[in-house]
Amino acid sequence: MNPTIELLQRHRSIRKYKSIPLDSEQIIAILHSAQMASSSSNVQAYSVIAVTDPAMKKELAVLTGNQAYVEQCPLFLVWCADMYRLREACEMQGTEMVHGTMENFIVATVDTALAAQNAAIAAESMGLGIVYIGGIRNNPREVTKLLQLPELVYPVFGMCVGYPDHTPEIKPRLGSKAVFHHNTYDTAGVRGEIENYDQVMRAYYLERTKGKRDTVWSKEMADKYRQPIREHMRAFLEEQGFRFD
Ligand SMILES: Cc1cc2nc3c(=O)[nH]c(=O)nc-3n(C[C@H](O)[C@H](O)[C@H](O)COP(=O)(O)O)c2cc1C
Repeated sequence: MNPTIELLQRHRSIRKYKSIPLDSEQIIAILHSAQMASSSSNVQAYSVIAVTDPAMKKELAVLTGNQAYVEQCPLFLVWCADMYRLREACEMQGTEMVHGTMENFIVATVDTALAAQNAAIAAESMGLGIVYIGGIRNNPREVTKLLQLPELVYPVFGMCVGYPDHTPEIKPRLGSKAVFHHNTYDTAGVRGEIENYDQVMRAYYLERTKGKRDTVWSKEMADKYRQPIREHMRAFLEEQGFRFD
């Protein structure tokens, strides 16, 4: 093992932060690391809004579903897929950008996630903790207004960053056989792997909640996916100028 692999395997989301601000050198290092992520054809189709203003964090905590750590963390990053800048570049070249394709949307969203995960690792390497906040898409119109996001930009997720004020257990993952396949996808083992993981997660939840939460992963997933999630997203994205032709 080397220190990078050890760091990656120590990850856990942090949901309690000390009220210690980050210094600008830390923030610059995090953002520069994000920018060095690979990017599809170097399009760099993302932007990140660093929110430190207490009133704005308070509002974002409510908008993301009353997630208190959004207000508590010293730095809240909003990671946005961004085709706006690319349209500007095209216009500067006297060209009209064809932006209404699913492919462009995927590229921008993937670029955003890759940059964000680089930032997460950079932050963790400095002893900071992070948690992603998909709740930023609970009220995307209000977030867009608050952050003054232009057309062709949308918030993919937020990220709390700060000094951890707790040390949660590392959350077990699916067995490697569940996610790795050799040469071709093997469906035969899938259910068995889910059963194995259910037992691992039952023990994890019981331990973490001192016996109060007796559930398994497949039940959690079934509860989550038995109804549509954030159905407003498509209409919102279209309002922001994205199209899915
Ligand atoms: C895109 C994304 C969105 C997430 N949104 C939230 C969120 O809104 N609130 C939260 O508390 N955790 C959120 N998480 C954290 C996940 O719940 C967490 O990463 C997962 O349960 C695995 O736990 P771990 O990060 O501690 O290993 C999100 C994670 C990702 C990758």
